[in-house]
Amino acid sequence: MNILVTGCSRGVGLTICRTLLFQGNVVYGVARNYTEEFSLLEKEFSGSLFFKSVDLSDSDNVQKLIFKDFISNKVKLDGVVNNAALAYDDIVTNLNLVRLQAMYAVNVFTPMLITKYAIRNMLLHRTQGCIIHISSISVHTGYKGLAMYASSKGAMEAFSKDTAREWGALGIRSNVVVPGFMETVMSSTLTEEQKDRIYKRTSMKKATSIISVAETVAFLLSDRACSITGQNIHVDNGTI
Ligand SMILES: NC(=O)c1ccc[n+]([C@@H]2O[C@H](COP(=O)([O-])OP(=O)(O)OC[C@H]3O[C@@H](n4cnc5c(N)ncnc54)[C@H](OP(=O)(O)O)[C@@H]3O)[C@@H](O)[C@H]2O)c1
Repeated sequence: MNILVTGCSRGVGLTICRTLLFQGNVVYGVARNYTEEFSLLEKEFSGSLFFKSVDLSDSDNVQKLIFKDFISNKVKLDGVVNNAALAYDDIVTNLNLVRLQAMYAVNVFTPMLITKYAIRNMLLHRTQGCIIHISSISVHTGYKGLAMYASSKGAMEAFSKDTAREWGALGIRSNVVVPGFMETVMSSTLTEEQKDRIYKRTSMKKATSIISVAETVAFLLSDRACSITGQNIHVDNGTI
């Protein structure tokens, strides 16, 4: 399968790329930075992993940069993982509109546009493809300071459910993976005490495994998940 993964340069996105490559897929990765970790993966899977530097905050140019210059109509796209995101965290009374809009560009507007052009590619090739959005447990369990971030992820959960309804008859699926807190750059500003407090709210009292998230994404993209659509799959160590 040919899969587009955004936010491939590190963290969850890079692990998703690795998992998909080990399962024999061809991966088209997008991020701003071409990192050392990504280049090592590219050497290991030469010919199956491709990279394009794209700033996903530039929603106006998504079609050209990704769907003309990188994944043209010649490529039959089987799946998309909208993983790239940023977390603007602050309390609501400090809300800054410019920062909120910048986050929505990367977390909401661009993933919606990517979904639009990916589905068009699938229609062109008559592909029964699959869209995955990476959400966050903060949508379902409130955390102080994450209202703005969680709202962007909640928007994608709603978008996914309705996309699934709209395109299911043609065999195109849309699902969301909802991870708990993971140890990545995104969560690196948290203190050990803050992390402990977060982990205490999980049934398993620890950080979510990035590999468990990546394996779930790979499963949902595959034919083994052919009857799963419009769902939010939680991979969060049982956060309640
Ligand atoms: N970490 C957690 O605890 C946690 C929990 C729940 C959900 N999530 C979600 O999991 C997903 C992955 O997060 P992560 O923890 O792996 O985050 P991360 O380590 O901060 O990685 C984010 C990725 O997104 C890319 N990215 C960010 N802004 C971009 C932009 N403007 N243009 C292009 N690429 C951009 C980054 O690449 P460049 O910087 O190279 O552009 C990077 O590859 C996100 O959707 C996040 O919301 C994370």
